[in-house]
Amino acid sequence: MSPLQGKRIVLGVTGGIAAYKAIEICRRLVDAGAHVVPIMTDAAQHFVGPTTLSALASEPVQTELWNNATTPIPHTKVGQGADLIVVAPATAKAIAAYRIGYSHDLLQNTLIATRAPVIVCPAMHTEMWEHPSVVDNISTLRERGVHIVEPESGRLAGGDVGAGRLASPESIVAAAERVLGPSDLLGVSMIVSAGGTREPIDSVRVIANRSSGKQGYAVAAEAAARGASVTLVSTVSLPVPAGVTVVSVETAAQMQAAIEAHAPSTDVIVMAAAVADFRPVHAADHKLKKHDGAPEVVLEATPDILAGLGERKPEGQVLVGFAAETNDLVANAQSKLERKRLDLIVANDVSAPDVGFAHDTNAVTLLRPGAKPVEIDLASKRDVARAVIDTIAEIQTGKN
Ligand code: C5P
Repeated sequence: MSPLQGKRIVLGVTGGIAAYKAIEICRRLVDAGAHVVPIMTDAAQHFVGPTTLSALASEPVQTELWNNATTPIPHTKVGQGADLIVVAPATAKAIAAYRIGYSHDLLQNTLIATRAPVIVCPAMHTEMWEHPSVVDNISTLRERGVHIVEPESGRLAGGDVGAGRLASPESIVAAAERVLGPSDLLGVSMIVSAGGTREPIDSVRVIANRSSGKQGYAVAAEAAARGASVTLVSTVSLPVPAGVTVVSVETAAQMQAAIEAHAPSTDVIVMAAAVADFRPVHAADHKLKKHDGAPEVVLEATPDILAGLGERKPEGQVLVGFAAETNDLVANAQSKLERKRLDLIVANDVSAPDVGFAHDTNAVTLLRPGAKPVEIDLASKRDVARAVIDTIAEIQTGKN
């Protein structure tokens, strides 16, 4: 279950071109189970109509401080009832007003009448974002405990390019999950591998597999949301989850080098990647020509990264493997759990419908040494990641 489930989140939208992105943020918050109460400033309504946001939110958009038909004392009621306030986008003007408590509109009244945590997501042109007044206002808000989701660099209104573009809806929702969710992995370092490795036959062809990397990314996102410092060793390029550092690799050998460089000092290692078991002994350094006939590709075994980590596992480290199986799921996974000296194996039957590679959903069985298997029924990959991370947190507590 998402930590946003059942939470009352005020989404404050101020007047910048990025206001249109508030619609996607609202949709994602609602999808995560939140009750979204949108507030739009007058300027925001120049960019998007309240009807669009009302249609997606859990309540009609609030715009009025005076003569408010739905809430008799809106300036305090909305903020008092909130579990979280997210201001996205936040203009330089809204940030300045919040800093000095200038409560001229419903959003600013709500911000100073609340005891709920506040996330501010600035969006503006680079010159404004770097202006000393804005820098100073942001730093004061930070000191007061306001969470700031920094803008990204990229294309801005009018064709300019630079820092100041509103952070992605994924990052903003992830920040909300971080603020409202448990922080049980604070101070924990974690390596997660994701995606299928690609082993070259020649300079253009590879032996690959069907892994999409989505489950590994979901595990990394969930761990980071709960406070872990996460390095994701990945063969795919999906959107990078907030707070995660990505190391891009292609082959099993590169993945092994990237993981082993940090493994001894890492608290938790989750091998969600589908690592090739075999690779061509020789990869041609040019494209093999069709007219030379079908090549004979001789294969050799790749190193089993996880088994190697199991052999050298430092005291207290939690080692987690994945097992994609098409038959005898539990028996096969159980034998891998023992052989590779793991603390947890996540087994999935990749022949079942809607499960495993490329799907957005998964159904898994969690196996631990000496414990009964735990089945996680068909759920989103993020929900499966949550169950995996819950179990890792439990193992960690037992070890420390
Ligand atoms: O033995 P099998 O390949 O099914 O084991 C799957 C687990 O082992 C996964 O966690 C996978 O990431 C890991 N693995 C590995 N190196 C390999 C093959 C698999 O780390 N060469």
